[in-house]
Amino acid sequence: MSDNKKYQTEVDFKQIFTTPSRWMGLVYLVVLVSIIVAGKYYVQHQDYISDNDPKFINSINLERETEVTEQKGQLQEGIDVNELGNNPSPELIATGKELYQANCVSCHGENGKGDGPAGGGLNPAPRDFTAEDGWTNGRTFESMYKTLEEGIIANGMNSYNQLTVKERFGIIHYIRTLADLPDITEDELSNLDLTYSLADGRTTKNQISLEKATKLVSKEKTESFNYVKSNFNQTGDVAIVTNHTSDIDRALYSLNNTNDWKSDMTRFKKLVLSDIPQNGFNASVVNLTNEEWAQLHSKLVTLYSVN
Ligand code: HEC
Repeated sequence: MSDNKKYQTEVDFKQIFTTPSRWMGLVYLVVLVSIIVAGKYYVQHQDYISDNDPKFINSINLERETEVTEQKGQLQEGIDVNELGNNPSPELIATGKELYQANCVSCHGENGKGDGPAGGGLNPAPRDFTAEDGWTNGRTFESMYKTLEEGIIANGMNSYNQLTVKERFGIIHYIRTLADLPDITEDELSNLDLTYSLADGRTTKNQISLEKATKLVSKEKTESFNYVKSNFNQTGDVAIVTNHTSDIDRALYSLNNTNDWKSDMTRFKKLVLSDIPQNGFNASVVNLTNEEWAQLHSKLVTLYSVN
């Protein structure tokens, strides 16, 4: 009977309001709920948070790349450069705007000020189209076209030549509505026409999926491995290599995956020593003198460099 009474007081919720010590239970509940709400907020906004962090740029780009739909290169009709250059229709500019928002905003920002979230870690920063100075190719119509055609790859600006000529004209015209850019001259339009044969039509590049690209890369790797292997077979005086490898194929293959060891002795050592048998080398490498390391390294570099 007294047990039963005890049990009842445990579950009698009215007690919570009459006994102050029971309020502690409520406090715990409130804290717990706040933590859950804050956690949910954090997770939902994580994309935004990481967008601003340069470390995450690669993963963002990768995400975008997986969205690429496979497309065979298409034959495009030639365009009338003067017509599209001098008299862009409102439709062309509207298409340009759409394409700008899909492809460029992430880096160049909504208003073209170079302040998009994915541009945060890039050096140089994405161009601010409203600034007059500091352009690499230049801010004329012709130079901007060149940028979209060829990209400025070393600086993080891709080529957009998978877009049609007309689409790229549209994008540039749209950018020109965001910034005060120099007038378009007859000369530069005819230069463009001559340089890129715009009046003649062209074939756009094939666009392939990331999966296929990865496969192609490994096919390339296989080919370059075969090349190095045949080099190895044809080169005399490879004793330094054979003496210190347990499985020459494995060794050549493990070095085939990266390039940075070629110009950097420390990386080379690290790579070999990271897992000696797995990398096809002999345990004897641990006893190599600096001079021997250098001989082994330079021999291997020669085998790969002809490639
Ligand atoms: C991944 C980020 C990124 C994206 C996406 C991007 N750009 Fe850029 N862009 C850059 C960077 C970085 C530069 C600066 C390059 C330099 O200063 O040499 C640049 C420079 C430029 C320039 C100026 C080149 C010069 O002469 O200095 C133009 C024009 C341009 N981008 C157009 C575009 C257009 C149009 C798109 C979309 C179709 C686009 N960019 C998408 C990063 C990006």
